[in-house]
This record gives sequence, structure tokens and C-alpha cells, in this order.
Amino acid sequence: MRHDHIISAKQLSRADIASVLDRAAEIDEDPGAVADRHSGKLLGTLFFEPSTRTKMSFTAAMKRLGGDIVDMGPVDQSSVKKGESLADTVRVVEGYADALVMRHPLEGSAKMASEFVDVPLINAGDGAGQHPTQTLLDLYTIRESAGFDDLTVGIMGDLKYGRTVHSMAHALTNFDAQQHFVSPESLKLPRGVRYDLHEAGASMREHTDLNEVLDTLDVLYVTRIQRERFPDENEYREVAGQYQIDADTLAAAKDDLVVMHPLPRVDEIAPDVDETDHAHYFQQAHNGVPVRMALLDLILEDST
Ligand code: CP
Repeated sequence: MRHDHIISAKQLSRADIASVLDRAAEIDEDPGAVADRHSGKLLGTLFFEPSTRTKMSFTAAMKRLGGDIVDMGPVDQSSVKKGESLADTVRVVEGYADALVMRHPLEGSAKMASEFVDVPLINAGDGAGQHPTQTLLDLYTIRESAGFDDLTVGIMGDLKYGRTVHSMAHALTNFDAQQHFVSPESLKLPRGVRYDLHEAGASMREHTDLNEVLDTLDVLYVTRIQRERFPDENEYREVAGQYQIDADTLAAAKDDLVVMHPLPRVDEIAPDVDETDHAHYFQQAHNGVPVRMALLDLILEDST
């Protein structure tokens, strides 16, 4: 794999994805073998939006490779509060680290920031745009559970603002997966994403009712309604609480249906699903460490 920056799932070929997932599987098997591999290397972390999984798993990944992180800290204690531009911030921080990981509320911000730095920059979520490393760990989870052969995936919830959905849908075109998008009318995939998927040859259908497709699915990828991205709280209230599943819902599903969620969840998946064999979302979150170790390993190896 040779990419200066990881900005979008659209830039990842099937071979790129395989190289990350294969390396992640090796690391999962024997994490001790890479414990000193990037000793002395530093990862700069810049999170302009809240995060638990992405930030902590990148931190764990870098430390488990023998490296360390330099973290910008909370935005309100950084010089962003003094009016520093994003371009200036990343130009400065690239001098402190061998690679950067950035999350920012503005769609397109990662691409813009990457144009100002020479060290590799990894997009950890840019508004409603993309979240490519989430997709890599999602694909790892699918490969370990359902596999990629003859795969049918349902993606349900906030398809408009959900960046994990936009990344995942593009990545699945590499595997000829049948994709069913389930959402309220108001939260359908954005026109631009639909266009790109058609261009990539995606096999896809859109639905408003999960029951139309539930019994055909190998994977159901549930997402949170992204309240923070709604311009109008009333619009959020109109759709909040729709598209929830519980153990009863899944009675109509295949016995080996894999239920995934990028997390955090609010009320989309009832706790009684956690006790079923369908629940893969906590393992999915744990897979963030070996997958991000693999990605960092490949990027840092390439950049030396
Ligand atoms: N899945 C995900 O991106 O979680 P965080 O927002 O906690 O990083």
C-alpha cells in the first residue's frame, strides 16, 4: 500500500484493503512481534470533535507498536481558541510528529489539511464526509464473521449524515456486495454518494422498511441518528427513535446474521440484542486496535 494520506475510503483498492486486513490478522495473532517496531516514532492526534473509540484505539495502536502520541488536547485549551487556522495548526504540528490523525466537524477538512503537510495525515472523521479507518475495522469484522463471498449487507439509520456509512458503502463496492440502504426518506443517502456508488458499479437498493430485506441479510450495519449534524432540532425529533432493533426484531433474520454498529449507540440497538450471537459491535470496536496498528505500520514503514 502506498498512500501519502488516508482521506477517503474511495482511495482504497481491494488490494489496499487486503494488505491492511492481512497485516491486522498477523498482529492479532502475535502482537508481541511488533511491540518495538516503531519505537521512537510519534503520532500527532488532533481531535476537534469528541471521540472515544477512534482516539483511544489510535493511541493504543501507536503505543503497542512501541511509539507514542503527541495530542493537541481539548480544542478549548488549544490555540484554536485564539483564532489559529486549521492550515497553520497542522503545519506546526507536522513538525512534532511522524504522522497525523485528525477529526474535524467540517466535511472536506481532512483533504484541505492534507494539502498543507508532508507527513501522512489520516482522516479520523470529517463532519458527515468520510471515516476510512472505521471502514477498515468494519471490513475486518465482516471478514472474520460473515466473509466477503456472496455478501448481502443492510445499512440502516442515518444515511445522510453518517460518515461511517459513506465510507463503508464505497468500500463494499470492492467486494461486489449487495447493499440495501434502510432509512427514513429524510435521511437517505446524499445524492453525491449515490452517484459515486452508481459510478463504482454498486449493486444497491433503498428501502424505508427493514422487514423488506431483513431475512436476506448476512450483515446488518446499524447507525446512530447524528443529532449533532441536524441544522434544526425539530427535524431530528421527527426521526429520533425510528429504526430501532431488539431481539424480537431479529427473530425474522438469518440465524448467523452479523449485527454491527460503529458505536456510540443511543437507542438503535436494544440491550437484549447484546446477549444474542448476532451482536458483533463490541468485538468490532476492539478490532480498531489491530487494524489501526496495521495501518500505522504500513504508513510509517512507507514513509521512512
Ligand atoms: N466509531 C467512532 O468513530 O467512535 P468515536 O466517535 O467514539 O471515535
